[in-house]
Amino acid sequence: MNIRRARAEDLPGMQACNLRNLPENYTMKYFMSPFYLTYLYHCATWPSISYIAEDKGRIVGYILAKMEEETAEGEPPHGHVTSISVLRSYRRLGIAKKLMLRSQESMATIYRASHVSLHVRKSNRAALSLYRDTLGFEVRDIEQKYYADGEDAYAMRLTLEHD
Ligand code: ACO
Repeated sequence: MNIRRARAEDLPGMQACNLRNLPENYTMKYFMSPFYLTYLYHCATWPSISYIAEDKGRIVGYILAKMEEETAEGEPPHGHVTSISVLRSYRRLGIAKKLMLRSQESMATIYRASHVSLHVRKSNRAALSLYRDTLGFEVRDIEQKYYADGEDAYAMRLTLEHD
């Protein structure tokens, strides 16, 4: 298993991984899909904070992240995890944890991010456990009907350490 920064040519593999795991978010395929456009924008703008996990050349997991740089006056920039997923047969091997830690480290060292934020469905027990129990994120807010199907989201945050 190799974890490395995402590159432009990884897009088809990342998209395949995404469509299998989170079909409700990105139903359109190919170059006009929200995932494709989001990926292109993220990788062009913040090329060092998105990562993939590959096994024998196949992408089995990814993290897609961005920086929120236009914050209120005086507030430091912070990172945001847009999407993370791992193929079903590769779960519970610590891949998502590694992807999160690599991205967080880059956010802190390259962009001096003060914290990292994300949204997660209230019903997503696996992801909630990863964020809260394994990585130490805290629930900051509940955003009502955040998802298109009406489910609420937890808005979560983790303060990043700096040397
Ligand atoms: N049930 C309970 N706890 C879990 C589960 C689960 N199914 N999966 C992970 N965890 C917790 C555990 O504490 C685990 O540690 P342990 O295995 O030592 O007990 C810890 O998270 C680390 O698990 P990883 O092995 O690193 O997680 P994995 O690589 O399996 O990926 C993920 C977790 C990304 C949530 C995966 O289940 C997945 O792809 N789900 C579908 C897509 C998804 O829901 N993505 C998150 C949406 S929110 C967003 O993108 C911001």
